[in-house]
Amino acid sequence: MTDTALIVVAAGSGTRLGRGVPKAFAEVAGATILEHALRGLAGVDARLVVVAPDGLEADASAIAERAGVVASVVTGGATRADSVAAGLAAVGDARRVLVHDAARALTPREVVQRVIDALAAGAAAVVPVLPVIDTIREAHDGELGGIVDRSRLRAMQTPQGFDAAVLRRAYAEAPDRAASTDDAQLVQALGVDVVAVAGAELAFKITTPADAERAASLLAPQPAAAPEVRVGIGADVHAFGGDGPLRLAGLEWEGQGLAGHSDGDVVCHAIVDALLGAAGLGDIGALAGVDDPRYAGARGEVFVGAAVALLAEHGWRPTNVAVQVLGVRPRIGSRRDEAQRVLSAMVGAPVSVSGTTTDGLGALGRGEGVQAIATALIARRSPLVE
Ligand code: CTP
Ligand code: MG
Repeated sequence: MTDTALIVVAAGSGTRLGRGVPKAFAEVAGATILEHALRGLAGVDARLVVVAPDGLEADASAIAERAGVVASVVTGGATRADSVAAGLAAVGDARRVLVHDAARALTPREVVQRVIDALAAGAAAVVPVLPVIDTIREAHDGELGGIVDRSRLRAMQTPQGFDAAVLRRAYAEAPDRAASTDDAQLVQALGVDVVAVAGAELAFKITTPADAERAASLLAPQPAAAPEVRVGIGADVHAFGGDGPLRLAGLEWEGQGLAGHSDGDVVCHAIVDALLGAAGLGDIGALAGVDDPRYAGARGEVFVGAAVALLAEHGWRPTNVAVQVLGVRPRIGSRRDEAQRVLSAMVGAPVSVSGTTTDGLGALGRGEGVQAIATALIARRSPLVE
């Protein structure tokens, strides 16, 4: 059983935060400040004592359970020091005591550990501190006085750690403890050395609405990084004159077919080049077996399937493809939906198809062949979801 107790004072009213509820019970990023604080302490080797405002003890217990920690709950007092005293009365025979503000809900575990380690190394009192960044000046009745040498200043954070007997004595003997917000200072008044360890920016005390906003943005889940994407372009053209039927965009059409080693489906071939080009994997010639006699007359979908598989091997997946067909016939618009369905199934991502003539210009305009131009967007496959 651990001989260390960790008192979390959460009995303050939160006047400066101004939420109309005791501060530790105000919500930030979907949970109460107390829950965030306790979640950050889960697994710390210490018995937890939560000091709650009068009447909110049961709520504090429920919050501790939600945070996944075991904690006893006691009722706090009118000042922070009264609340610490109430916690101290409940730590039993603990030899070491840490006192922590629930309001420092984002305190990194390393800070807690540094305090525990310093106690273990023999310190009777330990306080995490931060250097002061701002230029500080004194003020007297609204008049600005001299600059205080900030290199000599330190901001006090929590958890502060103590030999339990020393902290008890400080609380028993300190004449003006009611106004104290720094336990280490009460202990130091007894002549006990206080060891400073490094605090952390993240251990800031949520005090004002601006602090709560800062905490909320730090606690909000970070949006997943957008996957890496690449774009590719591909084109193919074949002349009419094949023996077989016209195959285009994965469909069979009326009229004379296109010449070519395979089925001459320029739409499929342009898609293949766009996909491979996007991934930096060369072009259709890179697909094993393209020149193989067994592929003579092979359907376009064989090549598209091979390209998608090669992309997958290299960690890519198609996001979408757009193809434009240039030529006099066939009229793509008449079977656009069908073509898009068939091509989307081949690619495994949306494929859109458009058609245009060349206003009678050139070989395509004279109806001597058909050209297709495709663009493809591809994205890195996520190993977690696919
Ligand atoms: N605290 C406490 N009991 C009190 C006063 C303060 O337990 N009577 C606790 C707070 O819950 C907080 C820590 O001491 O976790 C630091 O106090 P502070 O930031 O001043 O909180 P509040 O007193 O609640 O805020 P305010 O001063 O704005 O009213
Ligand atoms: Mg206060």
